[in-house]
Amino acid sequence: MSQNLDVGVVALQPGQKMEVEVAGLEVLLANVDGKFYAINNVCTHRQCPLTAGSLSGKVITCACHASKFDITTGDVLSGPATRAEPSYRVTVEDGIIAVDVERRSRKGHTRRR
Ligand code: FES
Repeated sequence: MSQNLDVGVVALQPGQKMEVEVAGLEVLLANVDGKFYAINNVCTHRQCPLTAGSLSGKVITCACHASKFDITTGDVLSGPATRAEPSYRVTVEDGIIAVDVERRSRKGHTRRR
């Protein structure tokens, strides 16, 4: 299921992240060097919201116990978390971001105007 978000690409500049809800799921949406990525926003360790953490490049660090995830894939880079986050396909059309929570992606999306 893909859902257009009320988020234009200009609202999410490189290095920024935000939480969005897609089909009832909490999703972390981020812009990494002009490409948009989406992963589950609930930490697989003890369910803290990843948006409360810090984003550095493609690495999101959980604010609770410092697990690190690659936001482009959802993979765990360092624990205590051991399970990867689901990652979702992101598309941009007419400057509006859409996230498909039924399709996984490892590519992200480049801004298109
Ligand atoms: S809840 Fe995220 S590292 Fe523990």
